[in-house]
Amino acid sequence: MATARLHLDPAFTVGPVRPRTFGAFVEHLGRCVYEGIFEPEHPEADDDGFRTDVLALTRELGATSVRYPGGNFVSGYRWEDGIGPVEKRPTRLDLAWHSSDPNHVGVDEYMTWCAKAGVEPMMAVNLGTRGVQEALDLLEYCNVPSGTYWSDLRRANGHEEPYRIKMWCLGNEMDGPWQIGHKTEHEYARLATETARAMRMIDPSIELIVCGSSASDMPTFGRWEATVLEEAYDYVDMISAHAYYWEKDGDLNSFLASAVNMDHFIDSVTAAADYVRAVKKSDKRINISFDEWNVWYMDRAESVPPTGDDWPVAPKLLEDHYNVADAVVVGNLLISLLRHTDRVASASLAQLVNVIAPIMTEKGGRAYRQTTFHPFAITAANATGDVLQVGIDAPTMTTTRFGDVKAIDAVATRDTDTGTTNLFVVNRAPEEATELRVDLRALSGFAENNISSVQAVTYHHDDHTWQATADDDTTVVPTANKTARIDGHELVIELPAISWSHIALSH
Ligand code: AHR
Repeated sequence: MATARLHLDPAFTVGPVRPRTFGAFVEHLGRCVYEGIFEPEHPEADDDGFRTDVLALTRELGATSVRYPGGNFVSGYRWEDGIGPVEKRPTRLDLAWHSSDPNHVGVDEYMTWCAKAGVEPMMAVNLGTRGVQEALDLLEYCNVPSGTYWSDLRRANGHEEPYRIKMWCLGNEMDGPWQIGHKTEHEYARLATETARAMRMIDPSIELIVCGSSASDMPTFGRWEATVLEEAYDYVDMISAHAYYWEKDGDLNSFLASAVNMDHFIDSVTAAADYVRAVKKSDKRINISFDEWNVWYMDRAESVPPTGDDWPVAPKLLEDHYNVADAVVVGNLLISLLRHTDRVASASLAQLVNVIAPIMTEKGGRAYRQTTFHPFAITAANATGDVLQVGIDAPTMTTTRFGDVKAIDAVATRDTDTGTTNLFVVNRAPEEATELRVDLRALSGFAENNISSVQAVTYHHDDHTWQATADDDTTVVPTANKTARIDGHELVIELPAISWSHIALSH
């Protein structure tokens, strides 16, 4: 069996773990809202129509924030349609997903749901078909206490206290030609800057996220970030990044190494932001909101919206069924996000329910966990304290897309309050198991026997194409990895091929 080694030292940290790294996303798309979080006719729906089984799974997942209402949807959205008496709300065409939206869920329902789920809201404004004024109206509705038209309307709608939403996205993927109201980088830079400047006049405490690129292979990537930030730098806090990965044309090795692309993407956006910082001679740093990331098989039939006169409410769209390899990739993408905790200030797994999601529902029936649920939930629950720098010596694997890459990838966090070091590790080799050895001397202060316990779980199945269903989401779950042991000054553990593991060390 091949051997890999990890080197870590608590003196070398990247920065604190940011709870916002574990955000998710709810878009008016397919069955994410309707039949996902909201289904008043469901036997487990609460008085507000929210599915309590989905709420429970959201909490178990450990989602910390939820972005809303889109996505591509937001670029044609009139937020005013979703407030006030439900029976008076209009049904509108959703051009982004060729669907109809009855607007039974809007800003107030979303905020009620966030409070129940215990997540921070992240609101996106429409900069596709709309502009500065509509963003200001929404902000006034949400964050101004009282005494103005929109704030008093919120109170009249039964929500006395202002929501004081902190995170606001200035549109969505405005670089994409598919976006309603798609813009050039110069057009978007102007609009985003003016919207941001005016929004800050209402509430200077908000955190604003300007649109970066919708993928690192967009033709405008890099130039878009620099141009937008040259104009918006002083008015925004973060720039967004979006990335989706899938096993394209059966190229499993490249897919398993997807985090190599995410690492490079984050480093490139950071470089573009810091280039503008240098030009502006600014002390301020712009961080990244990685507010859409996941595995998404976008070339499958599930991702094709209806056409013609068919404008259904909540059609089955983007309902990818994930396998074990997909879960390993999701776990690895989280490793990449955590390792960049110095610059990735927020992230959102896209999405939460039914639409490329860790949680699936049946209409009127069960809710269940997809394979990708597990690495996310375990990482969110255990990554606390500081992220440590990790040196990795590992055998390489060959990929068509990225050349030779390390077969092992890992990140470590150390929490001095709980006396725990947590390792999150993937073996992305398609066939080779690897023995991992971790030098513990620096971690245990060079004192012998200072590690009081080692607990490890591994997510793996000999058939990496296994998928969870509503009937069976428990055949493959993370299980104790009994090979984990202390050998002298090293932790030793065997990592099967295509596996994700969590190792907790108490000291
Ligand atoms: O998450 C699905 C879609 O992917 C979002 O609506 C859009 O922003 C992105 O292209």
